[in-house]
This record gives sequence, C-alpha cells and structure tokens, in this order.
Amino acid sequence: MKRPDFMILVCNSYRVAGDAQGFCNKQGASSFVQYISEECSDRGLDVVVTTTACLSVCSQGPVMVIQPNNYWYGGVDKDKIDEILDALEEGKAVEEYLIA
Ligand code: FES
Repeated sequence: MKRPDFMILVCNSYRVAGDAQGFCNKQGASSFVQYISEECSDRGLDVVVTTTACLSVCSQGPVMVIQPNNYWYGGVDKDKIDEILDALEEGKAVEEYLIA
C-alpha cells in the first residue's frame, strides 16, 4: 500500500453517538470534504481527505488539519481552502490562518 503524501482532516463535529452537531458542522464543514478532494485531484496533490470528531478548538472553527505538516487552520471557508491548497502545492503554510 502506498501512503498518501498528505492527509487533510476536516472537523465535522461528530459526537460519541455519531451525530454531526457541533460548531464546524453548523458552519458548513461537511461540504468542504468533497470540495477539498476535487481541488486536490485537480491540482495533482496526493491527499486523503477525512472527517473528524470535534478537535476541541471550536471557537476557531471551522477547522482543518494537514498532516504530516501539522498545519492547523481555523475559520476556513472555500476561498481560504483555495489559498491553503495553493500554499501546500509550494510546500508552505498560510500563516495568517494557522491557529496552532
Ligand atoms: S466542532 Fe470543530 S473543533 Fe469543535
């Protein structure tokens, strides 16, 4: 099995019971997964995109994390995702959107 170059985790606020109910989900994070997947495919980035439970930084949501870079981004929307992926293509972070 070939491991992807990057894993992008998108908080979708899943709770223990399996419901997506928290802040990031209410801000539209569920729509980001397909968007990020398509954008990465268009850019030729080798990425797996997945969703997560609450990452415990709700006040800075919606939150996405890029590994193995350990880039934690907050307040993301589709325009910011475009900028973030542009930077990722160059091996950089968008410093102004980093929360950790
Ligand atoms: S719901 Fe996304 S960080 Fe808590």
